[in-house]
Amino acid sequence: MSLKAIVYVRNPPSLEILNQLLLPHETVYESVTTVQQGYEQIKQMKVRGAPAIGIVAALSLIIDLQLKFQTFSKNPNALDSDILNMMNSPLLLGNFIRDSLDHLNQSRPTAVNLFRTSDILWEATSSGIKKDLGTKQIIESLVDMAEQMLFDDLKDNNNIGKYGVEFILRNGDKRISVITHCNTGSLATSGYGTALGIIRHLYAQGNLLHAYYTETRPYNQGSRLTSYELLHDKIPSTLICDSMVSALLASNKMDHKIAAIIVGADRVAKNGDTANKIGTYQLAIIAKYHNVMFIVAAPSTSIDLKIKNGRDITIEERNENEVVFVNGLIKQDGTEKYQIKKVRVPPQGVKVWNPSFDVTPAELITAIVTEKGVVEKEKGAKEFNLEKFLMSQN
Ligand code: MRU
Repeated sequence: MSLKAIVYVRNPPSLEILNQLLLPHETVYESVTTVQQGYEQIKQMKVRGAPAIGIVAALSLIIDLQLKFQTFSKNPNALDSDILNMMNSPLLLGNFIRDSLDHLNQSRPTAVNLFRTSDILWEATSSGIKKDLGTKQIIESLVDMAEQMLFDDLKDNNNIGKYGVEFILRNGDKRISVITHCNTGSLATSGYGTALGIIRHLYAQGNLLHAYYTETRPYNQGSRLTSYELLHDKIPSTLICDSMVSALLASNKMDHKIAAIIVGADRVAKNGDTANKIGTYQLAIIAKYHNVMFIVAAPSTSIDLKIKNGRDITIEERNENEVVFVNGLIKQDGTEKYQIKKVRVPPQGVKVWNPSFDVTPAELITAIVTEKGVVEKEKGAKEFNLEKFLMSQN
């Protein structure tokens, strides 16, 4: 079992991505050496989760640049003339970086982390060109930035865990149970996780009674990936279907008493409306009805102040095959061996709608936990003021 979705080494440059389509049954790392390969990894959801998507986009660009520059330094004759010219010209290098970022930005539309990463890398490139830096210096500055993103994300997740636990236990509870949705752990980030980071922190402090997690249809990030992480860390946990959350909250057994539903985010608008994995919105409605805290855990890199409210968030719609087929292990006849098989559930010819995310209105969210602290709504307000919060933290 490995919990590292992204394995990056600076020298010699290498990037390996854990293929999450094969988890939990097989642990296979795939090498990424070009922007196109990074794009494919994200598009096909071999790597997924908002922070991980942004980081892999940045790392695939810098790996591509580092490898090209290495060949340029050691064996320039091996390069085709376009790349050779580019390595001698900051302006041509800038064109390549702009085109690469535009391409990576096309991979998945909802998580803002990808676009933020692109903006940061582009700003550094254009400022390098303006300052007359050479191609080597421009590439090095991007490498430093991408590595910093990988490092900061892990640090931020640890802080989210700490702040989240302080907030959830602020009324003096000692041991609580929680529900989470999708996968927001090590596999979705550079490590530890956001919502799952809070659950890890609760467990590490001895405050977790039990973690329930939804299977998260259609792509099953819960039953395939969150289960994998929780089992790895031996955290007491139970898998439930997405349709069982209300029943769990109504069951009222002592060991089922749920204090909070904790989820991640792909994009949080300025007012706190939050796009996250499909099914999040209905969990927030259920939480409200049952008077249970509904917590969004997200690094500030997932907050998009350019977007006033959730209506402006683009929701990705994915292929119907994710809904009609399920992947699983089937035992081979007469052996102890298992094989991964894709099985069709509904009949041929059904119509399918497959939105990958939904938007939870700020009104239904109790608090947004970031690495900078916890944001709550002002008394009587239905929306958060995330601009004010972020400005007060700078
Ligand atoms: O489609 P996915 O698997 O990329 O969606 C992931 C989620 O919705 C997560 O909750 C979100 O990205 C936060 S991950 C820390």
